[in-house]
Amino acid sequence: MKALVTGATSGIGKCIAKSLYRRGWELILTGRDESVLRSLSDELGGCETVSADLADRKEVMKVYEFCRGKNVDMLVNNAGYGIFGEFDKTDLDDEINMINVNITALHILTKLFLRDFKQRGRGRILNVASVAGFMTGPLLSSYYASKNYVLRLSIAIYEELRRAKSPVTITVLCPGPVNTNFNNRAGVTFSAKPVSPEFAAEYAVKKALAGKLFAIPGLGIKACAIGQRFIPHKLLAAVTYNVQHAKKRTGRKEK
Ligand SMILES: NC(=O)c1ccc[n+]([C@@H]2O[C@H](COP(=O)([O-])OP(=O)(O)OC[C@H]3O[C@@H](n4cnc5c(N)ncnc54)[C@H](OP(=O)(O)O)[C@@H]3O)[C@@H](O)[C@H]2O)c1
Repeated sequence: MKALVTGATSGIGKCIAKSLYRRGWELILTGRDESVLRSLSDELGGCETVSADLADRKEVMKVYEFCRGKNVDMLVNNAGYGIFGEFDKTDLDDEINMINVNITALHILTKLFLRDFKQRGRGRILNVASVAGFMTGPLLSSYYASKNYVLRLSIAIYEELRRAKSPVTITVLCPGPVNTNFNNRAGVTFSAKPVSPEFAAEYAVKKALAGKLFAIPGLGIKACAIGQRFIPHKLLAAVTYNVQHAKKRTGRKEK
């Protein structure tokens, strides 16, 4: 069995790659940093790597073409990041790049691999959203909106596959805070205790291999995902604003 993992150079993606490797999967890893990809490949049995900036649609197609004819059985759309700040103050180009990575690249890869998987009559997709996908997120507005897209797209595809009685499965990972480089890149600090990326990854892989739609690690986060349904939109936005505001750091750190 073979999996393509995006955003494999760090955090949850790296741990998903390791979890699949422990289960005997072959891997194709992608990220932007070639040297990190090379050392990860050495660690994970000399697996294949392809460096790509997923903000660039041509590079997304490069990843797909690299995988073509290699009988990939699982697509893990994990690459993503957030940008913190009031909507009118965040940089437009930075945000469009984020939307390209979080939404457009995931959309393209999901569509192309889904076609291949349906044709072959097998395959699994694991899309990494967030508990943010269930909510409105002032101060991280476009990040939350991007994860809403990932969540809704994944649920809709799940239903299409279910109706078609397809053996192809789709799973959406919706973690709360996870201890990765995410915060450094977004320039925030956690206001709640994060789980480890190993825990989130292992949970996601188990759910994906079981063909489950949702992977929501942790009881508290499950409660948030369910509880938000009963809260009016404006109240939820006010609560999320306070949660996000508490995360604010002075100065934005880029990795
Ligand atoms: N950490 C959390 O609290 C949390 C919670 C919920 C959901 N998530 C989601 O989990 C996923 C993984 O994030 P993480 O927490 O593991 O953060 P991370 O440690 O920062 O890892 C992000 C990964 O995405 C890749 N990536 C970012 N921009 C890219 C680009 N333009 N082209 C290609 N790859 C790119 C990064 O590669 P580079 O090294 O090249 O930047 C890295 O491998 C994201 O989708 C995130 O939204 C995270």
